[in-house]
Amino acid sequence: MKVLFLNGPNLNLLGQRQPEIYGESTLADIESGVRSQAEGRAEIEFRQSNDEGALVTWVQEASGQTDVVVINAAGYTHTSVALRDAIAATDVPVVEIHLSNIHAREEFRQNSLIAPVCCGQICGFGTASYMLGLESALTLK
Ligand code: DQA
Repeated sequence: MKVLFLNGPNLNLLGQRQPEIYGESTLADIESGVRSQAEGRAEIEFRQSNDEGALVTWVQEASGQTDVVVINAAGYTHTSVALRDAIAATDVPVVEIHLSNIHAREEFRQNSLIAPVCCGQICGFGTASYMLGLESALTLK
């Protein structure tokens, strides 16, 4: 079982970026937590990009290479028709995750363009959203 974690723009800044909202863990800390939780259960691949096109390409390439994609699309969640189209087109199940509760934040964050084409959405649990993302991925294959 393979799970591919994709991380969108500015998530490389976790730890220093608005810690009151996103917490103090870095993306590397989160990755190592996910890897330990997955030990003996799933093979993990973890990627981050600030580029919309890279995220689209990774979703396109996931078919046949991974069993589930777990994605924190960050700002592209609310803007990217291209990412939504890529998720709609793939036969790989995709789980949407967010550190913060996007529904309790600014109005523009409350709409996720990708939510309707994902299997489900986990948000608001901080770094635990990644762990719950992994657990949900394990139920999908
Ligand atoms: C985020 C929420 C998004 O609205 C924001 O643009 C992010 C992070 C989250 O994990 O809470 O960059 O996806």
